[in-house]
This record gives sequence, structure tokens and C-alpha cells, in this order.
Amino acid sequence: MSVQDPASATPPGSRVGSLRLRMMRLEDAPAAAAIERASFSEGWPLTAFERELSLNPAARYVALEGAAPPGSHALEREVVGFAGLWLMLDEAHVVSVAVAEQHRGRGLGRLLVHGLVDVAYQHKMSVATLECRESNVAARSLYREYGFYEVGVRKRYYADTHEDAIIMTTEELDSPAYRERYARLAASLAARLPGVSLHVRQGARIKGNRSPGWLQGR
Ligand SMILES: CC(C)(COP(=O)(O)OP(=O)(O)OC[C@H]1O[C@@H](n2cnc3c(N)ncnc32)[C@H](O)[C@@H]1OP(=O)(O)O)[C@@H](O)C(=O)NCCC(=O)NCCS
Repeated sequence: MSVQDPASATPPGSRVGSLRLRMMRLEDAPAAAAIERASFSEGWPLTAFERELSLNPAARYVALEGAAPPGSHALEREVVGFAGLWLMLDEAHVVSVAVAEQHRGRGLGRLLVHGLVDVAYQHKMSVATLECRESNVAARSLYREYGFYEVGVRKRYYADTHEDAIIMTTEELDSPAYRERYARLAASLAARLPGVSLHVRQGARIKGNRSPGWLQGR
């Protein structure tokens, strides 16, 4: 399912013609690593993504794919954002959410978090949790919308700046209140991104069952 980008007034290069939310594949790792590097002061290297996607049985990553708008010379389809979580017993622990800078502020971060909660539902997780930099106003506001509330602080958690991490969690995902919130957010996203599928399509996590080169010989 795809959708025309409603943000027609955005500058060239920031427009995408259609959007699709799907599970991330190994071949998406370079694009995700590039977005990650541009988004975080301590971005993961490409090998970390490859390891997550091929070796970590608890990891589930979602990619947001955009098509170039008609008439543009950009690549036919590109990853414009990604998000990941770890399935830890009955807890979905969000490890990352990032949108390419030129595509921010148009609901795509919200779409990715929506997709992560969808994945958590698919795996029957009880709650979702995460840590977030105290100074990351945009992310904290986005997570609050999705029902994450603050339950504690990890002092000097981040090695680069020694900034505190805010610990956030949702209530039970299966509670009537959360189901109602999620339905309300789905309706609001559907109005903002008409026609886009909010459901993450499952599929082989690693296309062709390939392993990264560094795994060979082990
Ligand atoms: C956080 C991030 C994913 C948001 O992506 P986005 O596509 O810009 O988000 P959306 O357009 O869907 O906005 C969703 C909500 O986030 C909040 N938000 C987004 N940008 C914001 C900003 N600059 N200031 C304050 N709130 C902001 C708002 O609540 C917004 O809701 P609204 O559209 O109703 O105002 C993006 O800024 C990003 O990739 N940042 C770098 C990586 C990062 O910090 N990730 C989170 C920590 S893991």
C-alpha cells in the first residue's frame, strides 16, 4: 500500500512520492546506518546493523521506504527512516527511531513509532519501554503521544555527554485505554498520511538468508 505525499510545499529533495512501512532487511543496513550517523552523536556503524539484523533473535527493525516523486531524478525507492525494538520476554524495548533530516516534521516519526507498536502487538508484548536523552524534546514529545510516560532517570547514562536518560514505559498495550489511544492515533495518522498502511508487513528478516561477510568462517 502506498500513499502520495501530502507535503507538496516542501523543498525539492525532501519530497517522497509514496511511503511503505515494512520489516527491515539486511540490504537496508547501509541506508539505516547513514540515517543513524546523521542523527546521533554516537551512531552505530554499519556492522552493528548487520549484526542486529542477522544475529540478534530479539531484534525487530522497521524500515520506512519512500519512492521518489514523479519526475525527480532520485533513486526509485529509498529508506527515509527506520525504527527498532528488542523483544525482551514480554517487554518491547525501543532501541532506535530516526527519520532522515530532510523528511522530518511531516508525521514520519509518528508513523515509525506506530509501526513499532504494531510489531509489539504482533508479538503479544505486554508493554513497551525505552530510554531517551533528557534534552531530546522532539522524541520525548513523540513518545508521550504514544502513551510512554516517565518512570525514572538513569544518571549520566550517555557516554559522550554524560547526559541523563529518561526511562519511559507504556501501560499494558492490551488495556482498553491503550487500545483506544492507539486507535485514535491511527485515525489521526491516516488523516495526515491518507492511504498509507499503518500495519507493518512481515516477511523474511534477511532476504535470501544471506549472512554478512564477517560471519563467514565462524
Ligand atoms: C525524533 C524524530 C524521529 C521525529 O521524527 P519526525 O518525522 O520529525 O516526527 P513527526 O513529524 O512524526 O512528529 C511527531 C511528533 O514529535 C514531536 N516533534 C517532532 N519534531 C519536534 C520538534 N522539533 N520539537 C518538538 N516536538 C517535535 C511532536 O510532538 C510531533 O507531533 P506533531 O506533529 O503533532 O507536532 C526525528 O526528529 C529524528 O529522527 N531525530 C533524530 C533521532 C532521534 O533523536 N531519535 C529518537 C531517540 S531514539
